[in-house]
Amino acid sequence: MPHLNESIATAVQVLVSGGLVAIPTETVYGLAANALDPVAVAKIFAAKGRPNFDPLIVHCRDIVSAKGLTREWAPGAEALARAFWPGPLTLVLPRLPLVPDIVTSGLDTVGVRVPAHPITLELLSRVEFPLAAPSANPFGYVSPTTAQHVCDSLGSKVDYVMDGGPCPVGVESTIVGFAGGSPTVLRLGGIPLEALESVLGQPVTRQLSSSKPSAPGQLLSHYAPRVPIYLIDDWSEIPDGQVDYGLIGYSALPNAYAGFGTVLAPDGSDVTAAQRLFAALREAEIWGVKVVFAQRAPLNGLGLAINDRLTRAAVR
Ligand code: TXA
Ligand code: MG
Repeated sequence: MPHLNESIATAVQVLVSGGLVAIPTETVYGLAANALDPVAVAKIFAAKGRPNFDPLIVHCRDIVSAKGLTREWAPGAEALARAFWPGPLTLVLPRLPLVPDIVTSGLDTVGVRVPAHPITLELLSRVEFPLAAPSANPFGYVSPTTAQHVCDSLGSKVDYVMDGGPCPVGVESTIVGFAGGSPTVLRLGGIPLEALESVLGQPVTRQLSSSKPSAPGQLLSHYAPRVPIYLIDDWSEIPDGQVDYGLIGYSALPNAYAGFGTVLAPDGSDVTAAQRLFAALREAEIWGVKVVFAQRAPLNGLGLAINDRLTRAAVR
């Protein structure tokens, strides 16, 4: 990576002139453009092959900047922002007219978040506009958690890639909407449900449907590597006589197993498992096996988001 200061200056230049920059965030790498420039934002959709009905998240430098894009904050929204920003939480709120239609796919709401990566926060402080950024992967494919992942799958379609090291969270932000007035989780992610509920002091509802056009990131087949994935709880579920397979274990592989395999959380921690998840799915592709069996995560903390991504990776 060039000297960091130079690299941020280059990113600023590219963004100001309407180009695309891959940015590190704490969750996954994003493919960023000036959110207030519809021509620049259109380049994001073209580079990803993303359908125009799938709205983008707008990355802001702070809560004040996010308020400059939104009309009204439902009860609970401000408490969540204060508790988790900068961090892996996206709030879907009614938008102001300055947010271009192309960013929100014509919806009356906009997804906003303040990302917790020092390089991207510095970048946001040096430009006068917020950044629209989906994950920096071709539509439907596994999200990138390193700059190398971005180069591998989008390379020539990005004007500049900023390298901020591996993403510490590893799964995308938790998305919370307020349609009807009460907080609803639209996508599981880097902030666990338990943490949302402890700030709000009430249970949050979940609307994780697969066909709702208001949350296309929830399309059933998504985050999918180019090898069939099957989810299991126990290794005994692998069919007898199965050949040519690989394994993604949660905290260990079966005793004496000598085939292709990787473990998400050798330390048993959901944080480690989330960090390693997308790299493991990419790794599984290069084993060249016919099928991969992946073990579900325990059903708490980040385990819910991990299982959500594994489930979508497994659908074909
Ligand atoms: O962690 C993240 O959120 C990453 C990093 C780069 O910030 N971004 C990310 O963006 O995952 P993307 O485009 O891959 O997923 C964004 C999803 C969309 O698919 C859509 O489901 C939801 O956010 N979304 C955005 N705006 C929305 C809106 N106004 N209403 C409902 N859902 C919205
Ligand atoms: Mg994505």
